[in-house]
Amino acid sequence: MDIAERAVPPRVVVAERAAAEAAFKKSCIPQVGRLLSLAAAAKPGGIIAESGTGAGVGTAWLHSGLGADARLVTVERDEDPARRAAGVFVDDMPVSVLTGDWRLLEQHAPFDVFFCDGGGKRDDPQRAVELIAPGGLLILDDFTPSPDWPPRFVGEVDELRLFYLTHPALRATGILTTPSSSAVIAARCP
Ligand SMILES: C[S@@+](CC[C@H](N)C(=O)[O-])C[C@H]1O[C@@H](n2cnc3c(N)ncnc32)[C@H](O)[C@@H]1O
Repeated sequence: MDIAERAVPPRVVVAERAAAEAAFKKSCIPQVGRLLSLAAAAKPGGIIAESGTGAGVGTAWLHSGLGADARLVTVERDEDPARRAAGVFVDDMPVSVLTGDWRLLEQHAPFDVFFCDGGGKRDDPQRAVELIAPGGLLILDDFTPSPDWPPRFVGEVDELRLFYLTHPALRATGILTTPSSSAVIAARCP
């Protein structure tokens, strides 16, 4: 069996179907999804947040690791994918799908896990870091592998990645998610 054929949680399947119906192409890949599930499971009573819901695939992966006392909040600025994602979680009280700008998340901070995948990641990375609780985890995907230090993207220093990897309030590292993609995972220092 190919690793891509490993069973995925049922709600992820529902969200992937919603993404396909919406022709939404930017959902996270399963390798990132499993990292999201792991992170959520590490914070069983935590507040789990996502900026950029898309059609709910990443949300569904976070949900798959959600502890009984945890809450999950996600925000999407575009109404159509937000509505579709809300439909995936319509029967699930600890999940809130907000429609609007990512700053709507602030009222739910600090976060024990923050999958920063829409607003914040590029436009206000400092604020994204500030919203994480001490000991909380930050996950950012859609980077490319870079064996160099400092990390590079198409030959130039990747300043955004460098910001996260060297932020004094974080302990961060880059991990390969596939041979051609990578993610940054970080813990906020207590
Ligand atoms: C990479 S996609 C999200 C994929 C999703 N997290 C997943 O894993 O399936 C990024 C999403 O962020 C949304 N987005 C971008 N800027 C935003 C902002 N300022 N506030 C809320 N959502 C935003 C986009 O509309 C897009 O749907």
